[in-house]
Amino acid sequence: MPEEPTDESGTDGDSVVRRERFSGGPARGFLSSLAADERIFAADLAVDRAHVVMLAEQGIVEAETAGEILAALDDIEAAGHDALPDGEDVHEAIETAVIDRVGPDGGRMHTARSRNDEVATCIRYRLREDLLDAIEATLEARGALIETAEAEGETVMPGFTHLQPAQPTTVAHWALSYERALARETARLFDAYERTNQSPLGAAAFAGTPFDVDRERTAELLGFDGVMANTMDAVSARDFLVESTAHLATLATTLSGLAEDVVLYANKGYIEVDDAYASTSSIMPQKKNPDTLELVRARAGDAAAGLNGLLTTLKGLPRAYNRDLQRAGGHAWRTIDGVSEATEVAAGAIATAEWNDAALADAAGEGFSTATGVADALAMAGVPFRTAHEVVAAAAETAGETDFQTLEAATRKVLDKSLTEFVDRETVEATLDPTESVASRDSPGGPAPEAVAEQVVTAREDHAADSDALAERRETRAKADAALQAEVETYV
Ligand code: ARG
Repeated sequence: MPEEPTDESGTDGDSVVRRERFSGGPARGFLSSLAADERIFAADLAVDRAHVVMLAEQGIVEAETAGEILAALDDIEAAGHDALPDGEDVHEAIETAVIDRVGPDGGRMHTARSRNDEVATCIRYRLREDLLDAIEATLEARGALIETAEAEGETVMPGFTHLQPAQPTTVAHWALSYERALARETARLFDAYERTNQSPLGAAAFAGTPFDVDRERTAELLGFDGVMANTMDAVSARDFLVESTAHLATLATTLSGLAEDVVLYANKGYIEVDDAYASTSSIMPQKKNPDTLELVRARAGDAAAGLNGLLTTLKGLPRAYNRDLQRAGGHAWRTIDGVSEATEVAAGAIATAEWNDAALADAAGEGFSTATGVADALAMAGVPFRTAHEVVAAAAETAGETDFQTLEAATRKVLDKSLTEFVDRETVEATLDPTESVASRDSPGGPAPEAVAEQVVTAREDHAADSDALAERRETRAKADAALQAEVETYV
């Protein structure tokens, strides 16, 4: 195993000279990511600690030196990111701060690694946390939707296709439609978490290191599930950022639909958004606008832009590390912050909104939206569905709102028979009633109250399972943090 040079005036002095030569010019600010790196300040300290502990365990750095470096890192953490010396990035600035405190031996911290594996590890370490927060936000939104479904199981409302009145449904059925979509968002984010939670550390610049590093050990100390097998891949890959950002953009797109529905329903008086989620006009005193939902809708634009920015930055990058990668993180951070916040706001808006049962019930029967039910009743009585469809279409042409008489006339016209030869008057009138219409559609996944009750059970079970999975990951993370802390304390 190669030895680190022991000459105190050796490499560290040289590296300071080199740094001055390369980063003192007019492009200094352009090169620097130090300000943006605040996001990974804590992550970098954790990565430094794990690396130094491993170096000491492997006999690459003396235990005493490791103790001095680890103590310096504690001090640097207490002082905070803003107190860091100038540097091209947080990694360089922390290293300088360590050397300032420890002397040239502080320069041993960077043995057997590069900023390339370091930054990749920091981003993954930090993103794990953010993904768990995003997952929690989806669970919050799903919880609010499940509660809405429980409270509004029998609240009939108009359902739309092409934004035209289509068939009556219930608020519960609507709420669960978004809950199911959000359950898939949760699943996708968990999936991204698994692939993010792999350690690149020990890859060095891309080509490995002659030092006898223990990559499994640093992965374990940092709470990663495993080690990235190929060191060139380890430093180059940002597909974990792409998939996380893509999933967040998908989530934002789902939420934009929900937001649009609420904006539309508020316009029609079906729902009232709580004051805390509304805004007024600076000139029109009567106005109450569902602005928060409009902003939720708009965040889908930000998220799509973030994904696009990230993909465009990464496209065509050669192996291995390229400085373009310094611009990749920002797209992901902005996206995850924006979408997680939008998810929380949507959850709050749904949890506090009031549904206007009377307006919904009135609207539920408008536009002859029970027509399909009449056709279904005729088809159940033996009329071919296409003929039944024709009968009801003929009635619908005569009247937007229909009744037994128009249906009777339409039946005679199309079939040359009386409607009651197929179905009794009571059955027809039941199909015309929005509440009965909903109750009749009790196929699995449908809007009938029993069918919805089953969906609520499934939604609750899935919510509980995902909440447990989230708690388990948070616990694993907390245990790893505590274990690393305990290791550090044996040296300090
Ligand atoms: N600030 C850099 C980044 O975010 C760290 C890696 C720098 N590596 C290099 N070879 N210049 O990507």
